[in-house]
Amino acid sequence: MALVLLLLFSGLSYFTLASNRLRYFNDTGVQHGFWNESCNGASHVTVYDEEDFEFVKSFLAFRDSSHVATWLGLHKTKKNISWSNDTPFNSTMFTENGTQSQICVAINGTTWNHFNCAERKPFMCHIGSNYKLITRNKNWCQALQYCRTHNGDLVSIGNDTENKRAIEKGEGKSFWIGLLNDDWEWEDGSCSTFREWNTSRVSPGSTFAYTTFSNISKEIIKVTDDGHADSFCTKGTTRIKVIPYNLTWEEAFNYCKESHTGLLQIIDENDQKAVEQWLNYTSVSGPFWIGLRQSRVFGFWIWSDRMVNFSKWKNGIQPELPLSNLCGAINSNYMWTDENCLVRQPFLCEEEIVFMNKLKTARKQ
Ligand SMILES: *[C@@H]1O[C@H](CO)[C@@H](O)[C@H](O)[C@H]1NC(C)=O
Ligand SMILES: *[C@@H]1O[C@H](CO)[C@@H](O)[C@H](O)[C@H]1NC(C)=O
Ligand SMILES: *[C@@H]1O[C@H](CO)[C@@H](O)[C@H](O)[C@H]1NC(C)=O
Ligand SMILES: *[C@@H]1O[C@H](CO)[C@@H](O)[C@H](O)[C@H]1NC(C)=O
Ligand SMILES: *[C@@H]1O[C@H](CO)[C@@H](O)[C@H](O)[C@H]1NC(C)=O
Ligand SMILES: *[C@@H]1O[C@H](CO)[C@@H](O)[C@H](O)[C@H]1NC(C)=O
Ligand SMILES: *[C@@H]1O[C@H](CO)[C@@H](O)[C@H](O)[C@H]1NC(C)=O
Ligand SMILES: *[C@@H]1O[C@H](CO)[C@@H](O)[C@H](O)[C@H]1NC(C)=O
Ligand SMILES: *[C@@H]1O[C@H](CO)[C@@H](O)[C@H](O)[C@H]1NC(C)=O
Ligand SMILES: *[C@@H]1O[C@H](CO)[C@@H](O)[C@H](O)[C@H]1NC(C)=O
Ligand SMILES: *[C@@H]1O[C@H](CO)[C@@H](O)[C@H](O)[C@H]1NC(C)=O
Ligand SMILES: *[C@@H]1O[C@H](CO)[C@@H](O)[C@H](O)[C@H]1NC(C)=O
Repeated sequence: MALVLLLLFSGLSYFTLASNRLRYFNDTGVQHGFWNESCNGASHVTVYDEEDFEFVKSFLAFRDSSHVATWLGLHKTKKNISWSNDTPFNSTMFTENGTQSQICVAINGTTWNHFNCAERKPFMCHIGSNYKLITRNKNWCQALQYCRTHNGDLVSIGNDTENKRAIEKGEGKSFWIGLLNDDWEWEDGSCSTFREWNTSRVSPGSTFAYTTFSNISKEIIKVTDDGHADSFCTKGTTRIKVIPYNLTWEEAFNYCKESHTGLLQIIDENDQKAVEQWLNYTSVSGPFWIGLRQSRVFGFWIWSDRMVNFSKWKNGIQPELPLSNLCGAINSNYMWTDENCLVRQPFLCEEEIVFMNKLKTARKQ
């Protein structure tokens, strides 16, 4: 609690308006011949991992039989190999020989090699003037996010001096650096290594430029741009993660801080709607811890860094001292309840989406 109060009083930042914060999905039910014409201000859905793909499958399972294909956000572009921090790539450093569509580069001991971007490895951040080896295993996008949230970027290496320095700091490990080559890109410009499309459908000679989700085979397939498909659109900069482990509030708080951005906050009506939508298609059942706590001294309810303004208490009544329990959860009716902080139950984390373009990540704040 001391920690929470410290955070509260050190930065009262509860005035940020938070519309379109948590990712929200809109199945428009409208068919479009062209991918580029369908989302109208929002973006086609980006799939980040298996959990996301499961959500997409269950969300779209309720459509009727006339909807057989749905556009997804992954489309083909032609881009050069580039550093995540936008420094120009010095091609004398590395010959890019891969044939896969998405390639991430790691220093493997002393040499540079291609790896599958979804592989989890240590990585090196460039923060201030330091090269910092982080020994937690993350995929390339998660590594990028980690470095960015620590006010840096994945390391970029432009000459032999820098290369020596990185290798030295790397302690002989295999670690990600900020070099990426990718012919495909998600429409919203976010970083995702998810590529589980069915390549066996790709016949040579055809130019596949877009992806759809097939209702019939329940998989992601590449298509040319002339097939009709439904638009399925999304907005938001933060993902909801359902964590099925039974932990106390404090343990959940630490887990989310360590593995994602933090324990979930529900700041406004839009956030609440996004949570309801996500939980509606999730098989794990609640109640779930959220980042809500009550001050034992003052009695007010707080998120870790802001006061509670919008609320959705069960029966519309905010639990008050001395009868209240001090930790907040969301139940299976999507209402907030107070619970004993030592109860062990699943919880919800939030994870900020990382955009390839640094400016886009910065602008949303
Ligand atoms: C509090 O919520 C109300 C409506 O729910 C909103 O109009 C107001 O701007 C919010 N205030 C702050 C400080 O966020
Ligand atoms: C969903 O998309 C449709 C069609 O573009 C639009 O009319 C509607 O306002 C959208 N709904 C939300 C909640 O954004
Ligand atoms: C979408 O793409 C099609 C085919 O490439 C093109 O004819 C059309 O003008 C594009 N529409 C927009 C709004 O860019
Ligand atoms: C998907 O499409 C099939 C075939 O058109 C249809 O029978 C079914 O109702 C749709 N939905 C699901 C969940 O399969
Ligand atoms: C890619 O690199 C080549 C050679 O360095 C350059 O000529 C070309 O303009 C670059 N293309 C893009 C899209 O940046
Ligand atoms: C990449 O291809 C070039 C030319 O085909 C070849 O000389 C070079 O040895 C290859 N590099 C690697 C790392 O395979
Ligand atoms: C990376 O280094 C390890 C250990 O030196 C080696 O076994 C592995 O083959 C290397 N990987 C690549 C892709 O070169
Ligand atoms: C590219 O790397 C080579 C080899 O380290 C170096 O000699 C050259 O100066 C670098 N070019 C630029 C523009 O930094
Ligand atoms: C290597 O690049 C760094 C950063 O651009 C630069 O400060 C340094 O002088 C370069 N060293 C050499 C030997 O080119
Ligand atoms: C991929 O598509 C082929 C051809 O339609 C099909 O036989 C195969 O089962 C699919 N693979 C997966 C993993 O869905
Ligand atoms: C969490 O607790 C519930 C209820 O006690 C139990 O059914 C579930 O199996 C537990 N989950 C895990 C992952 O231990
Ligand atoms: C929950 O899912 C059902 C079935 O698709 C749907 O009818 C309902 O509107 C959904 N509720 C929310 C809150 O998304």
